[in-house]
Amino acid sequence: KVTKEFIYGMPKAELHIHLEGSLEPELKLKLAKKNNIDLGMDTVEAIKETYQFDDLSSFLDVYYQGMEVLQDRDDFYNLAMEYFKTAQKHNVKYAEVFFDPQAHTTRGVAFEEVIEGYYKATQAAKKLGIKANLIMCFLRDMSAESALEHYQMAKAYQDWILGIGLDSDERDNPPLKFAELFKMAKNDGYKITMHCDIDQKDSIKHIEAVLYQIGAQRIDHGTNIIEDQSLVDYAVENEIGFTKCPVSNRFVTGDLKSKEIKSLLDQGIKVTINSDDPAYFQSYISDDIYTLAQAVELTKAEIIQLAKNSFEVAWISEAEKKNYL
Ligand code: HPA
Ligand code: ZN
Repeated sequence: KVTKEFIYGMPKAELHIHLEGSLEPELKLKLAKKNNIDLGMDTVEAIKETYQFDDLSSFLDVYYQGMEVLQDRDDFYNLAMEYFKTAQKHNVKYAEVFFDPQAHTTRGVAFEEVIEGYYKATQAAKKLGIKANLIMCFLRDMSAESALEHYQMAKAYQDWILGIGLDSDERDNPPLKFAELFKMAKNDGYKITMHCDIDQKDSIKHIEAVLYQIGAQRIDHGTNIIEDQSLVDYAVENEIGFTKCPVSNRFVTGDLKSKEIKSLLDQGIKVTINSDDPAYFQSYISDDIYTLAQAVELTKAEIIQLAKNSFEVAWISEAEKKNYL
């Protein structure tokens, strides 16, 4: 029997966590007060009561609404530092963290405030024993032109951004909508990943496009790949990393998708377990691993494999991986 303590203490990398999704109700209230924003709620309990979702879009509504309280670089810095402090308790040694610049610029917050606050936090995280890199995500329900504009804004900060991702509402927003931009990003030396959320209208088509056309090194979620054996074989062969988030799955689909995750792990897919939006799903990385382990009775060896995978598919050098593995 594997204990919670073992899972918490096991060194791990987290590769799928949206910093904006780590905004805890306590900090939300504090920042609302500081920035004179009326949330219409003044207790942690009242905020938590709104954390009931039945699909991706009902989650995204609450997620974007919550960001209103983030106004200046200090807010972004403090948000990220709270995540890193919690990650330290889960023995996260390395983190690649997502952020959504368009969710802030569309509210009139300057790109510079966002990136400078977050980057400063990644540097401060070193003192906590955590190495961290930023992945800039585009909102797929916004236009390709908007994504390009933000891509160009980020040029001046390229050294601070390791990868480019794609998130938000997948319905009718296929990966190929951003094909040119991701091709450019690849040529410019960015790592590439994309969300393929659970049970979308065109899940298989989207996964196929991400693997064959976009040529991403990782897929975020991507669990529906299990429906297509040739795609599974391709992903195994090419060591594509899959960042799974079981508790997030339960919030947006009603199902952890634990059997699917276990089966993909058994088939040799590089599965990793992550928290996605830990404040909203009230589950940080070790809680996600523990929940999955309970649901499908993972062995100690399988749990260790998940942690190994997290370093193996991380965007760090082979020499660095050796330090962790
Ligand atoms: N899927 C899509 N968009 C998101 C997610 C997610 O899991 N989390 C935050 N934005
Ligand atoms: Zn996500």
